[in-house]
Amino acid sequence: MSQKYFFVCRNCGHRIESFDEWFRLGQKCPECGKNFIDTKYTTDLDKLKKLFQTKEDVKSLWHYFDFLPLNHKENIVSAGEGVPQIDRWQFLEEVASKEFNTKCKVYVMRHNTGNATRTFKDIAGTLAASVLKECGINEYAVASTGNTANAFSHYLAMAGISLYVFMPEDAVKENIASVSSYGQKAVICKGDYAFAKKIAGEFTAKNNILMTIGNTDPLRVEAKKTWVYEWLRQVGETPTVYFQALSGGTGPIAVEKAYDEIEPLGIVKQRPRYISVQPSLCDPMTQAWEKAKANNFPEGWQNDFPKIQNPKTKVQTLATGVPGTYPIIADITKNSNGEIISFDESRLVDIARLVTFKTGEKIGPASAVAMGGFFDALKKHLVKDGEIVMINMGEGVDRASFFLQEYVYNEDRVSSADEIKPFSRKELEFRLWRNILK
Ligand SMILES: Cc1ncc(COP(=O)(O)O)c(C=O)c1O
Ligand SMILES: [Zn+2]
Repeated sequence: MSQKYFFVCRNCGHRIESFDEWFRLGQKCPECGKNFIDTKYTTDLDKLKKLFQTKEDVKSLWHYFDFLPLNHKENIVSAGEGVPQIDRWQFLEEVASKEFNTKCKVYVMRHNTGNATRTFKDIAGTLAASVLKECGINEYAVASTGNTANAFSHYLAMAGISLYVFMPEDAVKENIASVSSYGQKAVICKGDYAFAKKIAGEFTAKNNILMTIGNTDPLRVEAKKTWVYEWLRQVGETPTVYFQALSGGTGPIAVEKAYDEIEPLGIVKQRPRYISVQPSLCDPMTQAWEKAKANNFPEGWQNDFPKIQNPKTKVQTLATGVPGTYPIIADITKNSNGEIISFDESRLVDIARLVTFKTGEKIGPASAVAMGGFFDALKKHLVKDGEIVMINMGEGVDRASFFLQEYVYNEDRVSSADEIKPFSRKELEFRLWRNILK
């Protein structure tokens, strides 16, 4: 069969022809046993360039069908995931200029405007469901702290595929409820996310059920790489610095993949610096990075990272305490002159309040981590004059009602009209900024 795509082992270069073969091989390279593979396409790259230049109304990542690892369009399982919305947020540019003397362009990419589960996991959901359908798979498993759980439940249900979702004990209740409402199986493991992954591994091995290989899974990476395509299509330029909340790091891996792919086109001069942001109560990659920097990146530094058991973070979507992908993220960060930083979780709500005050957008806790990281980076002068910033906000507040409840800061509880205190929005805004800028 003439191949539209194939895989190449990133470790030894061995070629694997298709997902069918990859799944048959147990998602491991038969030569070296590693599971990090690169997806290659046989379509002429000029076609990709044309896709960036289209004037059509683009409805989803399937606009890039020729550069996604699915053979037949009839297998597409799509559910209104839409394309990310990219806006310039003027108030961020103004504060960068006024408070930090840094003149930069700031784009914010959001994923909560589509009609599926409204996080940036939807695009991986649509690709995974479509590929699994094409391969005739009817049972699948995923370990997830929340948003992937939800997106995969939704899309695999649409494809009639039974999904086992392994979640840590303290997963957000809405996510657990949502998984099972689709008729998928929520397996709540009595421990942390690393423990859920362990149980998932054991269960799927015993029962011969296919399971995602995690952050390097081509089903996820190939979907998220389309963000870069959308930057080129929607705004016609790419950032010099990219902010994202960091859990396992599929995002940076996928963005790098897109640059590898478009490099031969010569349309992008520069890759971004990655500034990845971890929540302060689950920041093993930041700790590892800081240590490596302090020791001048000694031999083998990429393999030296802490394992945080039962992380206490309240941002469950970012609760990767044992970051198996650190060696990959470490290299991506270093090669880009980037940073891995932590954001103090006690300040997340202030960030979210300010964003909603200024834009009307209610952001979820993981998005607040990315946004908080941007403010901290300004303070540390990690963003320079003339830069183009892209902040990837992966979720709205939809499935984190606990977080929305914390937003409240302008209420009176009264038993008579006399008890109501007047207020001024100006004064509120002053207080919000003071909390952020202090
Ligand atoms: C909203 C949101 N932001 C960030 C992340 C982190 O993604 P990554 O896999 O790139 O670390 C996740 C999920 O893990 C998420 O749901
Ligand atoms: Zn190999």
